[in-house]
Amino acid sequence: MNRADLKLLGVGAAVLAALAALAVTVVIWRSHAPAPAPTGTAWVWKLPKGFPEPFVPADNPMSEAKFQLGRHLFYDKRLSGNGTMACASCHLQRLAFTDGKALATGSTGDLTARSAMSIANVAYNPTLTWANPSQSSLEIQAVVPMFVENLAVELGINEQNKTEVLARFQKNPDDRLRFKAVFPDEAEPISFMNIVKAISAFERGVISGDSKFDRAQAGEGSLSNAEERGRQLFYSEQAQCSTCHSGFNFSDQTMHAQSTRVEKPFHNTGLYNVDGQGAYPADNPGLIGVMPQPASNMGQFRVPSLRNIAVTAPYMHDGSIATLEDVLAVYAAHGRNISSGPLKGDGRKNPFKDTRLDKIQLSAQDRADIVAFLKTLTDESFLTNPRYADPFAPESH
Ligand code: HEC
Ligand code: HEC
Repeated sequence: MNRADLKLLGVGAAVLAALAALAVTVVIWRSHAPAPAPTGTAWVWKLPKGFPEPFVPADNPMSEAKFQLGRHLFYDKRLSGNGTMACASCHLQRLAFTDGKALATGSTGDLTARSAMSIANVAYNPTLTWANPSQSSLEIQAVVPMFVENLAVELGINEQNKTEVLARFQKNPDDRLRFKAVFPDEAEPISFMNIVKAISAFERGVISGDSKFDRAQAGEGSLSNAEERGRQLFYSEQAQCSTCHSGFNFSDQTMHAQSTRVEKPFHNTGLYNVDGQGAYPADNPGLIGVMPQPASNMGQFRVPSLRNIAVTAPYMHDGSIATLEDVLAVYAAHGRNISSGPLKGDGRKNPFKDTRLDKIQLSAQDRADIVAFLKTLTDESFLTNPRYADPFAPESH
């Protein structure tokens, strides 16, 4: 990552300075240099049917030991400035790694600008977070919750506490062994760089594809009548859902190891129109917040996967829709009309709205059936899979 890349992350001068001071070295994450031999136990992808092999950057190969180290770090509160919070504080397994809130609260009490996202199948996302094309790898993304100060403080590692944060790990013999096993050739394996690499490897291995829907697709079990009607509607011209929530991960932003061409579309779904000319709220304008041109970037967000959607309420980038029924009502109305309050405005008439929304034709019964279908996308085994669980919890080993 160079300074220009970081600027594109949407992070300002304060963060750039903090990162420079932290000596987060320049790394070309997608370098095509020969991959160093994976260390630790070998990695084998165990993928659900229909899931392609994820893309793995050449300079951060997968290994079982790295995945396990990353899992520990993901759950480790020592990885925050004041020791109160871990990645997992906002990404809870039982909620498919979301937090159940509209906005998340960081380690120093700041509210985040947007709603915490699932990390299920993030390996397949060519861009990370709700609307930022420059967050193009998990390694780049992980830096943000760790260090960012000018937006909302999340883990709150900074110039004052960075040495102390690393020392918490460096002074611990178990951590020394664990890092050394994964990064054996390095004089000081416990670095922020290697923390970022291990967490990213863990995230890449967090795969969800064993829902009722998946099993029915594979011929094991079947959907109820309502669920099946909902499924057919979901993929129909009448509902339009699958034109954006497409493919095995229900998103039109998907990449994998064999991708030759990766699309990175963003869309405006007509949730706001605060000035009558298409504006979204100033603190959450979407793509235009990091790419000021063209004007149509206003209100554009990445299509989130719908896997495990029944457990990730509230919905949308700002958590502003409470239930799936309400989401469907907004789609059926071709956008959201807010009739009073500071966010008043008719999103249905947002000039930047994706035109597909106007083709949607859904009766109350259709909406209920689609909701029934969406509920079949919950992967119960994923929500409790010990492989992804808190290694520090009393019941785990
Ligand atoms: C204070 C709560 C909080 C903490 C702590 C936190 N996150 Fe997040 N996470 C969020 C929010 C909010 C978003 C959405 C960000 C946005 O769109 O700007 C997010 C988004 C993400 C995404 C993007 C997922 C996608 O589909 O694009 C990943 C990956 C992620 N976080 C990983 C992490 C990791 C790794 C850590 C620890 C180093 C972490 N998070 C710590 C709240 C948090
Ligand atoms: C034009 C593309 C498009 C179409 C068509 C579309 N969606 Fe979406 N969907 C999106 C985008 C973009 C978001 C995120 C919007 C935001 O947060 O501002 C989203 C968000 C959602 C969410 C909330 C996800 C979350 O994690 O909060 C659900 C649920 C959803 N869509 C279901 C559907 C269903 C069901 C249909 C069909 C009736 C549908 N979508 C049609 C693009 C689309």
